[in-house]
Amino acid sequence: METKQDNKIPSPIDQQVPSEVPAIELKGITKRFGSVVANNAIDLTLNKGEILSLLGENGSGKTTLMNMLSGIYYPDEGEIFVNGSKVEIRSPKDAFDLRIGMIHQHFKLVDVFTAAENIVLGLPGERGKLDKNAVAKAVREIADRYGFEIDPNQKVYDMSVSQKQTVEIVKVLYRGADILILDEPTAVLTPQETDKLFAVMKNMKKDGKAIIIITHKLHEVLAVSDRVAVLRKGQYIGDVPTSQASQQSLTDMMVGHAVSLNIDRPMADSLKERLRVEHLTVKNKEGVKKLSDVSFTAYGGEILGIAGIAGSGQKELLESIAGIQHVEEGGNITYIDPQGKGIHLEGMDPLDIIRKGILLSFVPEDRFGMGLVGGMNITQNVMLRSYRKGAGPMLDQQTPRKLADKIVNDLEVVTPDINRTPLRRLSGGNVQKVLVGREIEQSPTVLMTAYAVRGLDINTSYTIYNLLTQQKMQGVAVIYVGEDLDVLLELCDRILVLCGGQVSGIVDGRSITKEQVGLMMTKVGGGE
Ligand SMILES: Nc1ncnc2c1ncn2[C@@H]1O[C@H](COP(=O)(O)OP(=O)(O)OP(=O)(O)O)[C@@H](O)[C@H]1O
Ligand SMILES: [Mg+2]
Repeated sequence: METKQDNKIPSPIDQQVPSEVPAIELKGITKRFGSVVANNAIDLTLNKGEILSLLGENGSGKTTLMNMLSGIYYPDEGEIFVNGSKVEIRSPKDAFDLRIGMIHQHFKLVDVFTAAENIVLGLPGERGKLDKNAVAKAVREIADRYGFEIDPNQKVYDMSVSQKQTVEIVKVLYRGADILILDEPTAVLTPQETDKLFAVMKNMKKDGKAIIIITHKLHEVLAVSDRVAVLRKGQYIGDVPTSQASQQSLTDMMVGHAVSLNIDRPMADSLKERLRVEHLTVKNKEGVKKLSDVSFTAYGGEILGIAGIAGSGQKELLESIAGIQHVEEGGNITYIDPQGKGIHLEGMDPLDIIRKGILLSFVPEDRFGMGLVGGMNITQNVMLRSYRKGAGPMLDQQTPRKLADKIVNDLEVVTPDINRTPLRRLSGGNVQKVLVGREIEQSPTVLMTAYAVRGLDINTSYTIYNLLTQQKMQGVAVIYVGEDLDVLLELCDRILVLCGGQVSGIVDGRSITKEQVGLMMTKVGGGE
């Protein structure tokens, strides 16, 4: 007894005053959708003045969990504490009253309204007697405080994606949010816009706000957060301080076993000329020149990467080849068919191009805008594509069903039922897998992908890289537009760098450095 007392060294923890109560505590939260357990007895804490990354593979339950904090779903089991008090969140209004604001990936702004009008939309007492000057002043104060750039009087239809996102964030701050949840905010941002968002988030944190961010990009997790919490298949796996985490350790934690983050880059035995683009010049509908004198050749048996700052003409290039973008100004696009015959594609209808086996896989910001139908199941969505390819309108359901099975197996798409569950019930990343998988499974001779891994978790991203490499080894000419330079340099045999619609150079992917490519992206002829 005596010795015990003598030996007792007061630990610093004993002496600490009780630390501030957490902003949010979830205890034993469970949410089921039919037989799917999206969240299984989750415990999660978010502290004040903290940025927490919520990490997990596609379909692991991140959005579902956050939707219970924003009042969209109500838990089947478990308790939620906000600032130490037990609460019930039954509607988005309840969430607002608790000063919780969520920024969803699909914005909910009214296009014809200004930023300021959207920000006060739905607030009690504001209808009809909106004091424009007062609102604009308050909006500017918020912007100055955290470092946003926003024009309160700008109409939403004139805004870029990043500006719209700013309006969404200012909107929840205007309503007094102290707890902010951002669901994949960077999926639609350029790297420069992402840096700006992170600077704003750090200012909010200094101001004592608590923030949860969902992102699949591990370098972003490491750059912005204080702590990382990991979900796997609806379970809470654990959390680590970001300072003790690495991309590899986080991936292993997320997947549950060691994962290799390497891309193989085998060389094909032979290269076959497949697509020849000569002096292509393209203007958009407004008459603005988007591509100027672009020339290159794509070969079967190689992956040609297209690098460039967002908006440098990547979209117009792929769309011109696919026949979606009208080539007004001039130039030639020649497809060389397996018999060696050249076919001019300029002015050809997109459907005719598809029938020639030239396949454009285009992954847009709006997944449901590009030939996926949310109300249909996976098999039906695969059928849509086969139909467009010229097979009979329905009838042969066998092939689409087999193809759907293959996509689900190869890409590990999580769905309760391939033939029943409508696509809109799948998690965001799983919808993306269906879109990419469907294009790859069409046995194209030219495969073009733009931002194929947007919204995909890291493990699935590597699956996609491997599938593209497999396509290349089977003789397909793969054209890969991407924004991650590290990936471009690991995956591609050659890289074409665009700058302001011009080709700054075409370089060897094995020997060029990231710095050289970066330079060429900002200056025509900056490298080589
Ligand atoms: N309204 C719903 N009805 C039926 N199932 C649903 C519904 N919402 C989500 N699910 C299922 O719950 C699981 C978790 O989905 P959730 O959207 O939370 O995943 P996530 O971690 O956000 O994934 P991602 O990274 O792909 O966005 C998935 O299996 C999904 O299909
Ligand atoms: Mg999600």
